[in-house]
Amino acid sequence: MKLGSEILYLSRDNIGALSIGMSDVISLLDESFLEKAKGNVDALPKIELHPKRDDNFINAMLCSFPKFKAAGLKWISAYPGNREKGLPYISGLIILNDQETGFPMAIMEAGILTAIRTGAVTGLSAKYLARSNSEIAAILGCGVQARTQLEAVLAVCPDIKTVKAYDINQEALTRFAQEMEQQFKVIVEHALNPQKAVEGSDIIITAGPILANPEPVIESSWLKEGCFGAPIDYDSYWRKSSFEAAERIYVDDVPQFETHRKMGYFSSVPTVYGDLTDLVSGKKSARLNDSERIIAINLGLSLEDIAVAALVCEHAERKGLGQLLSI
Ligand SMILES: NC(=O)c1ccc[n+]([C@@H]2O[C@H](COP(=O)([O-])OP(=O)(O)OC[C@H]3O[C@@H](n4cnc5c(N)ncnc54)[C@H](O)[C@@H]3O)[C@@H](O)[C@H]2O)c1
Repeated sequence: MKLGSEILYLSRDNIGALSIGMSDVISLLDESFLEKAKGNVDALPKIELHPKRDDNFINAMLCSFPKFKAAGLKWISAYPGNREKGLPYISGLIILNDQETGFPMAIMEAGILTAIRTGAVTGLSAKYLARSNSEIAAILGCGVQARTQLEAVLAVCPDIKTVKAYDINQEALTRFAQEMEQQFKVIVEHALNPQKAVEGSDIIITAGPILANPEPVIESSWLKEGCFGAPIDYDSYWRKSSFEAAERIYVDDVPQFETHRKMGYFSSVPTVYGDLTDLVSGKKSARLNDSERIIAINLGLSLEDIAVAALVCEHAERKGLGQLLSI
């Protein structure tokens, strides 16, 4: 790519064809949050628009990352009603700029990258906060994110052999179970309801829709001692009492989390203990014992997107993938 006169365009298929390993992405994010701890990254809290004034939103996520000689923007939408139209819930683009000249270097499809990085962020949290000998994982909401969420927790908790999956859509649940059993060495049990999925599970991931007026269901009494929870759907699935049952709550970025509180989310969540920057730098402790219940509410931070986008761009250039567009 000739910087200043060409841009590399990477489609979903191009990014998928790179087959970047989940463990490599988790390590990249570990390293990236350490860079942030050293004050070397600017990652702004996401800016959220609600174009239809309901559960749809479009976010602008901005980050400058000198270590990767890149700055960038992820412009990403989440429309829960898309599923009925046969379209993905999440869609968007990433623009990656050269740190030196400011010129755009690459544009890439953001849906697949979001799934990879959201999985990896849960994997990174689980590496520090889940019991490494966890054996049972619950997945509620078996769509796009659920697949990479499972891949990531399996990368850091290899003893997981049983997955208890729940979805309001039976077809989605069946497809998820078949694909995951083929891809990984796990048995996927169909849970009849959320309670049956959550009770007795060491790791609980909720990946249903994010709703402006949620009706959360997970109760504190369902949470096993020593469990690790990862609600990637914000506060839509977990009741106030279940958040309160956690000994500690982590997020991926405290300033962004507090910005979202001001927007009206997370009124049911008690004071958070720390974030991924604190964890990877050792400023705040990882899991202390086998009985703590810990929840990681990762909202998704621009740093995660731009670090992974820079890696994707580098791999694609090396392999000659993608399409060059004239400026
Ligand atoms: N935190 C982050 O960084 C981050 C990043 C990407 C996506 N997300 C969130 O992850 C969630 C899932 O996204 P996706 O791309 O997988 O969407 P998707 O539409 O592919 O999957 C969602 C699944 O949830 C199911 N579902 C709906 N209501 C449910 C309920 N009450 N109980 C159980 N299942 C239910 C649907 O049938 C569907 O199978 C969304 O809330 C999205 O906003 C978060």
